[in-house]
Amino acid sequence: MNTTWWKEAAVYEIYPASFKDSNGDGIGDLQGVISKLDYLKELGTDVLWLCPIYESPGEDNGYDISDYYAINPRFGTMEDFDELLKQAHQRGLKIMMDLVLNHTSDRHPWFKESRSSRHNSKRSYYIWRQGVHHLYPNNWESYFSGSVWEHDDITDEYYMHLYSKYQPDLNWDNEEMVHELYKMIRWWLEKGVDGFRFDAIAHIVKAKGYPNAENPQHLPVVQAYQLFSNLEKVHLMLRKLNDEVLMNYDIMTVGETSGLGPEQALAYVGDERHELNMVFQFEHMTLDAASAGTGKWELRPWTLLELKKIFSRWQTTLHQQGWNANYLGNHDQPRPVSRFGNATRYRVESAKMLATFMMTLEGTPYIYQGEEIGMTNAAFEEIDDYRDVETLNYYEYAKLQGKPVKDTMAAIWAKSRDNARTPMQWDAGPNAGFTSGKPWIRIHDNYMEVNTESAMKDPHSIYHYYRKLLALRKSHKVMVYGEYKLLLPLDPELYVYTRTWQEETLLVILNFSEDTPVFEWPDELDRASSELLIANYEPLRDEDHKKFKLMPYEARVYRLV
Ligand code: GLC
Ligand code: CA
Repeated sequence: MNTTWWKEAAVYEIYPASFKDSNGDGIGDLQGVISKLDYLKELGTDVLWLCPIYESPGEDNGYDISDYYAINPRFGTMEDFDELLKQAHQRGLKIMMDLVLNHTSDRHPWFKESRSSRHNSKRSYYIWRQGVHHLYPNNWESYFSGSVWEHDDITDEYYMHLYSKYQPDLNWDNEEMVHELYKMIRWWLEKGVDGFRFDAIAHIVKAKGYPNAENPQHLPVVQAYQLFSNLEKVHLMLRKLNDEVLMNYDIMTVGETSGLGPEQALAYVGDERHELNMVFQFEHMTLDAASAGTGKWELRPWTLLELKKIFSRWQTTLHQQGWNANYLGNHDQPRPVSRFGNATRYRVESAKMLATFMMTLEGTPYIYQGEEIGMTNAAFEEIDDYRDVETLNYYEYAKLQGKPVKDTMAAIWAKSRDNARTPMQWDAGPNAGFTSGKPWIRIHDNYMEVNTESAMKDPHSIYHYYRKLLALRKSHKVMVYGEYKLLLPLDPELYVYTRTWQEETLLVILNFSEDTPVFEWPDELDRASSELLIANYEPLRDEDHKKFKLMPYEARVYRLV
């Protein structure tokens, strides 16, 4: 297997608005990030993924870009960015940019021109269609509720937006537009950025002619993922992007691709494909590949058996063929400890167990800000405390459908993207040390207990456990490259696997439950030569070596030589 830096790296995702405010306007910014570089280095991360910081009206917190070449003044200036890049590099940290190529803001100059007349030279930079009998051009549903089409009075046509109406989709059939994107990407690479996360990249190509999705119940709009996700031509586009731009630089790339399984993922990340280094898949988030996406509001409960099946397929299918990106949370998802662990009684134990899981899988691990201190879901009582466009659209939509408010709020508590967007909790002081002003979104109530300052002081904290895991991953290549093998596939509480690389084997034992199941040491593994690398409980001295009980959410990693 090819060994390389981006396989060995651990990535830390920064949601700039909520990370650290340096000037008291209540919004996190680039100087704030700079002030925390030492913190991130000490934690042991290698690559910082910055969610979009480009000029943007902020209808979707920066995922609506109005100028790809400028920094959003809310976050600072281009000088601030250059300083961040320099200071990061001085510390051996790399910077990965989040790039949105599926759509722009409706305030991007291209779109302003495009909408101005049917004959404008940039008309076909976007996707315009006439209505059908005064109705939408087709029945596709937007990720953020309602139709993907918005009527524009100026030319009496509709434009397509898979996300909000402020995010018109770019037309990748227009080569001139695509070359403009290449030029812009090269410009950032020449500046010295170390990689890209390509937002919503699975959707840049839509089914030819934009046909209606099947609609047996004759609803006004229906989910139509298959007609705009992972289509064959996306691969052509990515290969061209790679040939013309990316391959000339030593960078890392990760694409956001919902709605696929590992076999299809190989089309993006297979070693021979020359498209992307890795993709973010959604099977473990939606537990249902077919309907994967960000627009679903019914958060399906998970079972460990399902999770094992999904992760095992990804681990084995991609082994020596491609590369995984492993994550349990990000700026679009609930907090992992709230969803997969226990955010109250076993917050610390379960957060450590989940971290052990992520760091011992084959692939590059992604840590979302605050995960390293076990931040939990927001669950605000009032809709007025929410900021996310997806959440607010859903609230209005549910109201129109006559859904009881308490059901709507319950869905929002479980699923809203704002669960993960509350400000980073730095200390127990005012506003959790995030800002000296009024934060743009409410701070989580638990910041007195959950914050980096107290976590750094406590040797048993989640923070120190992450540090230890990240350090181990650097000194034990088996954690990065080892071949994964699932043990006890049918155990509903224990997730157990080995990883093997050259002479070394790891045995990972994870208790995903609040029970105390008994683990029986496998005969084929030599207990006598084993060494406990890391565990989230003090090992019990007088336990039986052959058969022992695990504590709630206990995690242990043994090394066998
Ligand atoms: C991706 C981003 C999400 C954004 C959407 C539209 O899913 O992660 O935050 O709203 O794309 O750009
Ligand atoms: Ca600020």
